[in-house]
Amino acid sequence: MSETLLLLSGDGIGPEVTAEARRVAEIVAPDLTIETGLVGGASIDAHGEPLSEETLDQARAAGAILMGSVGGPRWADQPRDRRPEAGLLRLRKELDVFANLRPAFCFPALVPASSLKREKVEGLDIMIVRELTSGVYFGEPRGRHTEDEDERRGFDTCVYTASEIARVARVAFQIARGRSGRLCSVEKSNVMESGLFWREEVTSLHAAEGEGVELSHMYADACAMELVREPKQFDVILAGNLFGDILSDEAAMLTGSIGMLPSAALGEEGTPGLFEPVHGSAPDIAGQGIANPCAAILSLEMALRWSLGRPEAADRVFAAVSDALAAGARTRDLGGDLSCRAMGEAVLGRLANDPSSPS
Ligand code: IPM
Ligand code: MG
Repeated sequence: MSETLLLLSGDGIGPEVTAEARRVAEIVAPDLTIETGLVGGASIDAHGEPLSEETLDQARAAGAILMGSVGGPRWADQPRDRRPEAGLLRLRKELDVFANLRPAFCFPALVPASSLKREKVEGLDIMIVRELTSGVYFGEPRGRHTEDEDERRGFDTCVYTASEIARVARVAFQIARGRSGRLCSVEKSNVMESGLFWREEVTSLHAAEGEGVELSHMYADACAMELVREPKQFDVILAGNLFGDILSDEAAMLTGSIGMLPSAALGEEGTPGLFEPVHGSAPDIAGQGIANPCAAILSLEMALRWSLGRPEAADRVFAAVSDALAAGARTRDLGGDLSCRAMGEAVLGRLANDPSSPS
């Protein structure tokens, strides 16, 4: 296994938050080789494209990739394939990281920061498994007919093959088995052909391989509603690319701040995973040093756990974040006044004190 962690800090607050994650990595996994590379707007500025072959080669050779975030108003007017987001989407596609794990976990210390009542979110622990490399994000044909047509139109295609559904559903089964066993698969089978196909495929795979998994189904709109009505009814949620994108933002907000939540994008066994905060590049606060680095630090935690085979180091990181929050460390998004650096320091301070740190 490659012992290299590739840092692609990207744009906006990405460099600020990944700098703190890097400092944590240097403490909990000092023998890891850390490389850096460019993606998104940063890569457009340097190479004229949002993802260079060089970065892609680095990514393929790494054990894990830790991303910051991409995008910003500076590049918003570029054609779609030259926008920062295209670099991220291509990276996901090229690495074939089809299973996106997005936990929505409410740290006890952050219960009051949630927009929902205490009893609704206390103990909340949901895992969203989002399909990441297909569906309407990548389906063909797509385009805009803006000339030579009776009426201008824009269109996308939502398409899933049986094997694309099966491979992500298998990951969801496996994750559900490691938790309560409850899995809710989400689509719009009442409206969409691809949604009905999704439901049928998940159902038949479950009959064949779903031992130990209690499967239910829900329409995506109902799921969106249930997530704010009674979020703790959910354990693992399986969704396609677009619904998973939307529901994971919603679930993230239940936990107090989107600044807290990490994600892991995993491909086939033995290939590097791509780890990134769920939050975006937040251009409104970029460069001010006030972003919350926890999502990036917890993305490192997921990289250590899911790709780099270092669960003990991952446990240390998780405990340090949890302890720092319990001790009152808060960035602005959580109602506090710590800077990004100071929040990183708070986590590092807990690591220095933990029992496994060398004295
Ligand atoms: C996410 C983001 C991305 C997505 C964007 C930046 C392309 O919203 O990771 O959730 O839509 O997948
Ligand atoms: Mg999103």
